Amino acid sequence: MLKVIFDTDPGVDDALALLYLHKHPQIDLIGVTTTFGNASVESTTHNALYLKQAWGLSAPVARGAGGPLQPEATPEAWPVHIHGHNGLGNHPVPEALDATADSRPAHQLIIDLVRAHPGEVTLVAVGRMTNLALALQQAPDIAGLVRGVVLMGGAFHVNGNITPAAEANIWGDAEAADIVFTAHWPVTAIGLDVTTRVEMNRDGLDKLAAIGGADAELVRALSQEYVDFYLQAGHKGMVVHDCCACIALTRPELFQFERASVRVATDGVARGMTIPKPEGMGFGPSVWDGHVLQSIAIGVDAAAVLAD
Ligand code: BDR
Ligand code: CA
Repeated sequence: MLKVIFDTDPGVDDALALLYLHKHPQIDLIGVTTTFGNASVESTTHNALYLKQAWGLSAPVARGAGGPLQPEATPEAWPVHIHGHNGLGNHPVPEALDATADSRPAHQLIIDLVRAHPGEVTLVAVGRMTNLALALQQAPDIAGLVRGVVLMGGAFHVNGNITPAAEANIWGDAEAADIVFTAHWPVTAIGLDVTTRVEMNRDGLDKLAAIGGADAELVRALSQEYVDFYLQAGHKGMVVHDCCACIALTRPELFQFERASVRVATDGVARGMTIPKPEGMGFGPSVWDGHVLQSIAIGVDAAAVLAD
């Protein structure tokens, strides 16, 4: 069994990814940590607790960062309501829930769980990377204790989705993302290069609901406005970004990767841009030198990912 901590900002595609991790027979979901992004951290935490309660998750949910490491350096996003005003596609989420958050902040839960299971835990991060960066800053030893990090973020050889240069999860805390990419732990990055090719249409959601019962029916219901957004943007269905990261963990053979050290631009018009320096590429001395080669997805068997 693969022990997973899911760091997330639910988020419509986050909800589908959480359901995937919850149902997968090879995954032992040991923690869910929340971050700001698709909505405020108050909303994303409430949404995660709602899903925990609806699906009977045993994993603790811990609330994480409410903003980036360096707020003064992070420009305001233009209004982005792809995930609805409440983060779950405007699906009615009850205000009162029985499920409660863990007393620890997200980064502390990450540190505690990684130390409790040395070499076993994969961090699957599909929101801003702030919680992971805070965990690394407070407990650098966790870099050598995790099994790996799989993240949804970046636009390596394609345009971004929030600026021409930047993908939203990286743009929202570029400093944190640079810390995560340059830490001495193995990162697998699933960015827009591949996720935008994995589109689930309404037929796909109907099939999911038919085989997944009430749990999947909930995902189908909260995905409707998100599907509309992507259809209007010219896609064949909703782009299931965060699920791609989960499937890259369970079925890495469905992706092609390049090895590169990655730096994130933290200033100017390129802020949030993920810039890879591929293995063996010769340049003079640079800020890429001395950093771990990470795995960056550059190809995907989209049909097989959708079928998984
Ligand atoms: C990422 O941003 C969010 O909208 C999605 O949940 C995904 O994690 C894609 O850029
Ligand atoms: Ca997300």
